[in-house]
Amino acid sequence: MTGGRPAHLAAGAGRPAPAADGRLLFGGDYNPEQWDASVWREDVALMREAGVTTVTLGVFSWAFVEVDDDVWEWDWFDEVVGLLHDRGIGIDLATPTAAPPTWLHRAHPEIIPVDRRGIRYHPGGRLGWCASHPTWHEYSTRIARRLGERYGDHPAVRMWHVGNELGGGNRLCFCDVSSDAFRAWTRERYGTIEALNRAWGTAVWGLRYRSFDDVIAPLASESGQNPSMLLAFDRFSSDEHLAQFRRERDALRAAGVATPITTNLMLDVGGSVADYAGWVDDLDVVAIDHYTKAADPHRERELAFVASRARGLDRRRPWLVMEQSISAVNWQRRNAPKVAGEAIRHSVQYIAHGSDGALFFQWRASASGVEQYHSGLVPHAGTRTQQWREVVRLGGILNRIGEVAGSLVEPSSVAIVADIPAKWAWEEGQKPLHDYPIEAAGRRWHEALSARGLVPDVVAPSADLARYGLIVVPGLYAVDDSFADAIRDAAAAGATVVIGHLSGIVDEENRIRTGGYPGAFREVLGVFGEEFAPLLEGDESLLASGAVAVDWTERLRAVDAEVVDAYASGPLSGLPAVTRRRVGEGEAWYVSADIRDEFDDLVERVVAASGVTPRVPVVARVEAVRRVGEERSWLFLINHGETDAVVPAIGFELVAGAEVSGSLALPAGGVAVVRES
Ligand code: GAL
Repeated sequence: MTGGRPAHLAAGAGRPAPAADGRLLFGGDYNPEQWDASVWREDVALMREAGVTTVTLGVFSWAFVEVDDDVWEWDWFDEVVGLLHDRGIGIDLATPTAAPPTWLHRAHPEIIPVDRRGIRYHPGGRLGWCASHPTWHEYSTRIARRLGERYGDHPAVRMWHVGNELGGGNRLCFCDVSSDAFRAWTRERYGTIEALNRAWGTAVWGLRYRSFDDVIAPLASESGQNPSMLLAFDRFSSDEHLAQFRRERDALRAAGVATPITTNLMLDVGGSVADYAGWVDDLDVVAIDHYTKAADPHRERELAFVASRARGLDRRRPWLVMEQSISAVNWQRRNAPKVAGEAIRHSVQYIAHGSDGALFFQWRASASGVEQYHSGLVPHAGTRTQQWREVVRLGGILNRIGEVAGSLVEPSSVAIVADIPAKWAWEEGQKPLHDYPIEAAGRRWHEALSARGLVPDVVAPSADLARYGLIVVPGLYAVDDSFADAIRDAAAAGATVVIGHLSGIVDEENRIRTGGYPGAFREVLGVFGEEFAPLLEGDESLLASGAVAVDWTERLRAVDAEVVDAYASGPLSGLPAVTRRRVGEGEAWYVSADIRDEFDDLVERVVAASGVTPRVPVVARVEAVRRVGEERSWLFLINHGETDAVVPAIGFELVAGAEVSGSLALPAGGVAVVRES
């Protein structure tokens, strides 16, 4: 039974949901080439035991199917596909382009990326290719086409997975071919060299281009480099990887593939390899990889932020968590395992936020190679383990809540705006404050609003803001005029907009909007920022309300705005820190300092001003999110706390299979999904 897609959100949908058969996807990356054929049989039996529905196959298989240039060995792959199919396990088939074979690197070392210093990398890792290189285009589309021809209509193949984390290790390449492609890209974007000179402000340090022939990839120079050029190169590199996605996708389609095609995006608070908002229309389903950080004591909150961001990329369709880890990873400083129950909570949390499944990297933990210490659903120690019991339990839970597949998270009245190019703009070039994590403010807003039961969407600046009553714009450093207009219009139409510090400072080319900070929003906010006043490490600035700012303050004047909070100490004493202004039917607030202590009080005031109210029960440490289908809705409840909780709910709880009439007892660490009546 499938929940279906609510009619009011159906516009523009029409592409198949990943879990079209009404089952949530459960499983993960399967790398059979690492194991003897005897292990494959055990694998499929264990997959059945755990209730696995889907595996991502072939991510690293290239060298084993194309064993030499145009020499193919398909038998073993056919056998694996057949084994999975016989057991009813669906396949998300990957083009193996994350792992170019050694024969290709030996024949064509020129496809390997070149670093900023102009030095070419060497074979031996993964993603050893330059996205602009024609030789790479030829080989990568050939393998995609061959796979498409062979398995395009295989009934087990439900979805296709182009490459793996495009740009994840090879985002920037500085080879001559890339330089040429960048030059062509700039010509296309700017039209004339004068326009490029203006956009990049090349008069500074006399970096004046006479013609497009002067433009090269920003290879390392002896000093700092132009931040507009660096941002342009980030955008170019993102476009090259999108072009690579399209190339492989088109090869699959040309070979007759009719099932959904996607790729796994690296969406993370810190990760930003591409401008994914511009990729969404090319993907049949948004799929993300997400790994929590063991050292983060509130990693479930970061997860909620990232999941809200995945959902915000495309509100019309469910998305998919394509990779997470069942326990430890191998690439953090200290790779602590997940605690008992954590992988279940996290999986249900992604689904609560709109994922149509829970997939993992990887099925069986590797014994060798780079990832030998990365957890897998089948651990090194085998199945007589707590972890395996948890995997089987998770499979059971996902099976019992499968009816939610296809439904969407209830529309939210709160949006937080985030943008990858805006983050690049902040990170590229020299700044008033270095190594300052500009997206952290977004996460703090998300946490505080979530704790009030508001389930915010995290959306790109291009999103339709009309439906939101509260719109928060935290640390959105670079914005174009159309976004500034959209914010003004949203406020005029009745929304409460909150502009956070370091938002709207530069335009889309990384040029400062002069005439008073924050240039893009100065008028709507009714303020005039004279000077930035970043704080030295360890310094704090006390505000009249008792709130405390760290890292960032500004010398601000309220021109046509009410002062909500002012500095009570230091050189800015008496000057405004937080302002508010009536705009048409709505309001525009400016939070010009990085407020940490008593941040919640500020959030409370903003929420009260906006009039938005929660649509889910609000119980301390219990995350509540509703998914809505055509005829019914489901309330997801996740108790992240260490004490048992009681939550108001009425309906049928699917995890335990019990009626709920009024309130539900949710043990510490427990999860519940109530089909509401
Ligand atoms: C991902 C990648 C996987 C695996 C995983 C380990 O970034 O897509 O192939 O390496 O990390 O955490």
